Amino acid sequence: MSYNTVLFAVEDGIATLTFNRPERLNALNAETMAEIATVLDQTAQNPKIRVLLMTGQGRAFIAGADINDFLKFDPLAARQFADVGQAVAAKLEQLPIPVIACVNGFALGGGCEMAMACDIIYASEEAKFGQPEINLGIIPGFGGTQRLARLVGKGLAKELCLTGRIIDAAEARAIGLAARVFPAASFREECTKVARSLAAKGRLSLRAVKQTIDRGFDLDLKNACALEADAFALCFASPDAKEGAAAFLEKRQPKFL
Ligand code: COA
Repeated sequence: MSYNTVLFAVEDGIATLTFNRPERLNALNAETMAEIATVLDQTAQNPKIRVLLMTGQGRAFIAGADINDFLKFDPLAARQFADVGQAVAAKLEQLPIPVIACVNGFALGGGCEMAMACDIIYASEEAKFGQPEINLGIIPGFGGTQRLARLVGKGLAKELCLTGRIIDAAEARAIGLAARVFPAASFREECTKVARSLAAKGRLSLRAVKQTIDRGFDLDLKNACALEADAFALCFASPDAKEGAAAFLEKRQPKFL
C-alpha cells in the first residue's frame, strides 16, 4: 500500500513509519493523521512486526499540527481534530509491540505528543522538543498536557506548556522526556540496533512490560503490583519463560517465539 504523506517499510520484523512532508516539516494534516491510523491498524494485525520505529524525513520529526488548518477551525472542527489526534495516540499506546520514537529533529506540539505516546523516545543531538501552542493562542490537544505531566512531572509540564519554550536533546534527556541521545551521524543506526535487540526478545514479555507499566501507572501501588504479579504469572504460559531460563543455564542465546 502506498501513502502520500508517510512512508512505511517492514524489514526483519522491524517496521519503520517515516513522516514524509519535509517541505512542511512533517506538520500533521487530516490526510497524514488518517495515513498514520491506517499504518497503525495494519501494524497491529501483522504478526511479523515485532517493533515499530517512527521518524521524520528531513529536519523535523513532526513540527506540530498543520497551522494552515487552524484558520478555518471552529470549536466543533477543533474538537474533531483533537479527537482524531488522541485516537492515534491511543492506538500507539495500545499496539501490542514496543514503539520507538526516533526524534531526528523538531518534535513540537503534536509531534512531541506523538513521541510521548510511544514507549521509548530516542533523540538525535539535533532534536528539539516543545509544546509551543501557547504562542498560537491555544493549548496542546493530542494529550500533551497530560502525558508531559506524567512523564516529567506537573511543574515542568506547566513551565513548558505555559512558556512554549523549545528545549534541546540534552535538556529533554535531563528531564526524562528522551530516554537517550545519540549523535546525529549514527542516529538511525543506533535506533535500529535497539530495535533489533528488542525484536529478538520474547513477544509476550515485551507486551507484558508495556501493558503493565501503562495500565499500572494510574492505579494505586497495591493494585498496580497485583497487575504486575498477574502479568508475571502469564509469562509462564509461553514457552519463552522456560527457554529464557534454559538458555541462561546452558550459556547460550535464547530463541524466543
Ligand atoms: N504547520 C504548517 N506549516 C509549518 C509548520 C506547522 N506546524 N511548521 C513549519 N511549517 C512550514 C513553514 O511555514 C515553512 O513553510 P514555507 O517554506 O512555505 O514558509 C516550512 O514549514 C519551514 O519552516 P520554517 O519556519 O521556515 O523553518 P525554521 O527553521 O525557520 O523554523 C520551526 C522551524 C519549527 C521553529 C518553525 O517552523 C515553527 O515554529 N513551526 C511551528 C511550530 C508550532 O507552533 N507547532 C505547534 C503547532 S500546534
